[in-house]
Amino acid sequence: MKVDVLLGLQWGDEGKGKVVDVLTPNYDVVARFQGGPNAGHTLEFEGQKYVLRSIPSGIFQGDKVNIIGNGVVLDPSLFKAEAEALEASGHPLKERLHISKKAHLILPTHRILDAAYEAQKGDSKVGTTGKGIGPTYTDKVSRNGLRVGDILNNFEEKYATAKGRHEAILKSLNYEYDITELEKQWMEGIEYLKTFHLVDSEHEINNLLKEGKSILCEGAQGTMLDVDFGSYPFVTSSNTICAGACTGLGVGPNKIGDVYGIMKAYCTRVGSGPFPTELFDETGKTIRALGHEYGAVTGRERRCGWIDLVALKYAIMVNGVTKLIMMKSDVLDSFETIKACVAYKMDGQEIDYFPFDIKEGEIEPVYVEMPGWKTDMTRFTSENEFPEEFNAYIDFLETQLETPIKIISIGPDRDQTIVRYAED
Ligand code: GDP
Ligand code: IMO
Ligand code: MG
Repeated sequence: MKVDVLLGLQWGDEGKGKVVDVLTPNYDVVARFQGGPNAGHTLEFEGQKYVLRSIPSGIFQGDKVNIIGNGVVLDPSLFKAEAEALEASGHPLKERLHISKKAHLILPTHRILDAAYEAQKGDSKVGTTGKGIGPTYTDKVSRNGLRVGDILNNFEEKYATAKGRHEAILKSLNYEYDITELEKQWMEGIEYLKTFHLVDSEHEINNLLKEGKSILCEGAQGTMLDVDFGSYPFVTSSNTICAGACTGLGVGPNKIGDVYGIMKAYCTRVGSGPFPTELFDETGKTIRALGHEYGAVTGRERRCGWIDLVALKYAIMVNGVTKLIMMKSDVLDSFETIKACVAYKMDGQEIDYFPFDIKEGEIEPVYVEMPGWKTDMTRFTSENEFPEEFNAYIDFLETQLETPIKIISIGPDRDQTIVRYAED
């Protein structure tokens, strides 16, 4: 058996949570492979809305096993709050959620360091989610991190060493902070974490594959936030691309099956950094209002713009995407015209690739304009109902991106999902 991977192609918030939930009935296992509580994955069904941060989005479908892989960074106090809220809403997860012993722990001082580094950067700050993601992955790579498995023995000593190191850095930065409450909740989180199945998930996953079980790997963030291939340094600190599923779960590259790439019918970004198709006008505001484009974790306004096919082609390339999923097409239902960026103008020249570095105002998007479909599609149940203009839009995207669009999402609810090419 192979694993399929589902990941974001833009700057995150493409709708990964919704689609993982929709696809879960086709799989035995769902596994998160990177990121941490910087993610906010929203699911809606039966009139309820849930936002998941660290727990995989397969948790609401029957008794499927969900795995938090070694590539994830976990904050025990945020994890406890998330897991307890799920259990309280009638979704028991203790038996179904397995956590890798090799996943790294976000310490209270990692969160404080995140804030301190951002403060130090001033105007060039990344606009992080403030969850300690960067400092935790930094400690992992510099071989100073603490892992989930460490909580099982001699933990206090290991924690004191790591905390001491962080305190020295914070002191050198003259950063004032109060850790008392944060640390108290964190320690409660550690005790709570001990009540879960802490596993060697790379063995578990490979054994499941040998048994013929099917696995869906869930990505967080998006390709343009990848630490290697995103708009560096305005990125997150993990590999969000498909290769991240190999390192974040211990799955060989030859075990990867389909790679589902998710995009919105337009584009958004939260935090700082280049965004060539960003709209500062009324159209941008309309997209934000209709798409409720506010961060699921931070509540921050998301920057909005037209779909960017230059960035998407790049994302499809570095991920080896086999099937596309287009989300939130309903947000454009009332538009007279729709635009898609097919190239950039830079220094008077047209280019069709995402450049190494983009300075503010340096790039001008080249657009193709198409008539809007001006139809409320939110209650459609089949692609046979799609208006002609919408079919023309998706044909155009498939031709440009040289990849089939397999699923189209026409609203936030689980049921507002149309699967095309049902035969494959
Ligand atoms: P994720 O981080 O990729 O899982 O995406 P988020 O949950 O952060 O953001 C996607 C937002 O769009 C959530 O509020 C979803 O409920 C919502 N959403 C998902 N699909 C659709 C859709 O097709 N139409 C509309 N209008 N909203 C959607
Ligand atoms: P999901 O999984 C959108 C952004 C932050 C910031 C940058 C670095 O919901 O799509 P970090 O806290 O990771 O160090 O912040 O990355 N960012 C996201 N933007 N969706 C996300 O996750 C994000 N996770 C991080 O806004 O610009
Ligand atoms: Mg999100």
